[in-house]
Amino acid sequence: MKVEYTEKKFLDLRADSLVLALTEENVDSGDVPPLFGESRRQVEGALKGSDFSGKRDQQLTLYTIGKFRIVCLVGVGEKSQLTNEKLRRAAAAGVKSAQTAKAASVVLSALGSTVEQVSDYETVHSLLEGAILGAYKFDKYLTQNNQKSKVVDFKVALQGVKAAIGQKAARDAQVVCEAVFMTRDLCNAPANEIYPEALANVAAKMARKYRVHARILDEKQIAKLKMGGLLAVNSGSAKPPRFITLEYKGSPRSRDWYAIVGKGITFDSGGISLKAAANMGEMKMDMSGAAAVIGTIQALASLKIPVNVVGIAPSTENLPGGSAYKPGDVVTTMSGITIEVDNTDAEGRIILSDGLYYAQRYKPKAIIDLATLTGACVVALGQHATGMFGTGEDVMAQLKEAGEKTYERVWQMPIYDEYEKQIKSDIADVKNVGGRWAGAITAALFLKKFVSDYPWVHLDIAGTAMLEDATDYAPKGGSGVGVRLLTQFFKQVAS
Ligand code: BES
Ligand code: MN
Ligand code: ZN
Repeated sequence: MKVEYTEKKFLDLRADSLVLALTEENVDSGDVPPLFGESRRQVEGALKGSDFSGKRDQQLTLYTIGKFRIVCLVGVGEKSQLTNEKLRRAAAAGVKSAQTAKAASVVLSALGSTVEQVSDYETVHSLLEGAILGAYKFDKYLTQNNQKSKVVDFKVALQGVKAAIGQKAARDAQVVCEAVFMTRDLCNAPANEIYPEALANVAAKMARKYRVHARILDEKQIAKLKMGGLLAVNSGSAKPPRFITLEYKGSPRSRDWYAIVGKGITFDSGGISLKAAANMGEMKMDMSGAAAVIGTIQALASLKIPVNVVGIAPSTENLPGGSAYKPGDVVTTMSGITIEVDNTDAEGRIILSDGLYYAQRYKPKAIIDLATLTGACVVALGQHATGMFGTGEDVMAQLKEAGEKTYERVWQMPIYDEYEKQIKSDIADVKNVGGRWAGAITAALFLKKFVSDYPWVHLDIAGTAMLEDATDYAPKGGSGVGVRLLTQFFKQVAS
């Protein structure tokens, strides 16, 4: 992938395609055709013959304009209403059209005159984010003949932006999108390729490349730490578990740590409480939380954000093997807290009990976990908002802000004490399921038992990480949600 910012006029650049984001005012004023030099008549004619007026989501596609094989004019609506998200969407829509027309390179541009609510840096960053993320395809398993072309060369041409700002924005966008891609790739990879050891190997390799300190615990070490939750869920699988830790020390002089903990179930069959067959394959993405943790650490390290963050990811398959844990079992977690297993399909919270407890070793300023934890959360919020629960009020306010900025939006749900009796057990400290109602909340209350008094936030990404339908700039499948959200969050923490 090549990503660049240039001050040159787009007409002086060479690429397969051009994507031009236009406001209604840009179109109205008649400023657009003159930008195309010798092709101005062509563009003028096309605009006149269409109903393209620059309204949001409108698109006008022209072919062979100057050096460009394809030109996409994309509307972003009224100038006064411009947002980063509208720029991302426009860029994504344009790039997708260019990609369909077999373009491999794109120039992205917009008409000058900055607006108050979107800075120059943000304009470059958002155009690139939308374009790069929108161009993503998981085509690794398609043989060459079946692969469709992909845009891999991105240039933003914007005049009136300081070169240093444009270049910084371009590099930042590239680095974040690469981290999102790594997370998406991990999620979309089949479970015969990404099993716990393989996931840990990817994390370790990333750590070497970005100079992050990785510590990967194997089954013996996990047993020595008495991580009974992780071991119980692992017991039905032929593959050993792994416990991944990644220490990114971006602020060496500070002793403050933040912990991010991700659910790393590389395949969730439900175990003895077996899931139905339909769509079970999607459960290869049940490690999306872990993948987001790995991706976030990569993004933070490559951006050199001055914070200390430890990424933690317990990982195992959940399978119904002959030695599998069973409904009715009682397991003792690393914390000493005992769990009555009522349903082996509520396995995420069981492995997270050990992950969250382990996080306390860092005496963190806050613990944030990400997990594809409950179907109930998908019922409540669908795929357009992540469920947020927790005790860290300041952290949640910051996450809310980061969510609006990145459009990886979070929505807070309550964790009132009254719900807690649903997970009371007659024979152990807690039960792993809480009945039919408020399933996402009782799952969160279960997790809360393992974080002591540390400020803690749980993000249920079951709906947002594993997309049933494509969104504006993520195809169906792994979205990579969490990476941009947490990267933005830590930027805010650092400033
Ligand atoms: N990984 C699933 C949750 C899930 C469901 C993620 C749908 C994405 C889409 C989790 O391990 C699970 O199976 N949860 C159960 C809990 C229940 C048994 C209390 C669920 O939500 O049905
Ligand atoms: Mn499950
Ligand atoms: Zn699961």
